[in-house]
Amino acid sequence: MPSFLVLNGPNLNLLGTRQPDVYGSTTLSDIEADCVTYGTEKGISISCLQSNHEGELVDAIHAAKGTFSGIILNAGAYTHTSIALRDAISSVELPVIELHLSNIHAREEFRHTSYIAAVVIGQICGFGSAGYRLAIDALLGHLK
Ligand code: DQA
Repeated sequence: MPSFLVLNGPNLNLLGTRQPDVYGSTTLSDIEADCVTYGTEKGISISCLQSNHEGELVDAIHAAKGTFSGIILNAGAYTHTSIALRDAISSVELPVIELHLSNIHAREEFRHTSYIAAVVIGQICGFGSAGYRLAIDALLGHLK
């Protein structure tokens, strides 16, 4: 059975109350529960983790090697700053889908640059919390 890690970065623990006009009103626990439910329907084991700390996200990516078949990563603001996350993704050679709830390309200019985009399979953004199901489908399709 494939197993995916759904990894969320800084400030995503505040989903539901954080700028609902931008990120929607669904909480992170609702999103994580839905990922697990959807994974069960698709025959995938899903584990979820959130951290506000860059090093913990790096550690989680390292630990995923040998444990998970792939990672769905919403790196939050670290997307736009973190060479460390990019290097971690390159180092583990696991398929990673980059995910954003909002359409980062339609927002401030600094959000248009993703440091991780070049080392992931692809990017899903702008579909709100529905993007997580899209990412599960995309990762599953990639592995088939
Ligand atoms: C985000 C987009 C980022 O620019 C932002 O810093 C976030 C959330 C998204 O899901 O839309 O924290 O990754």
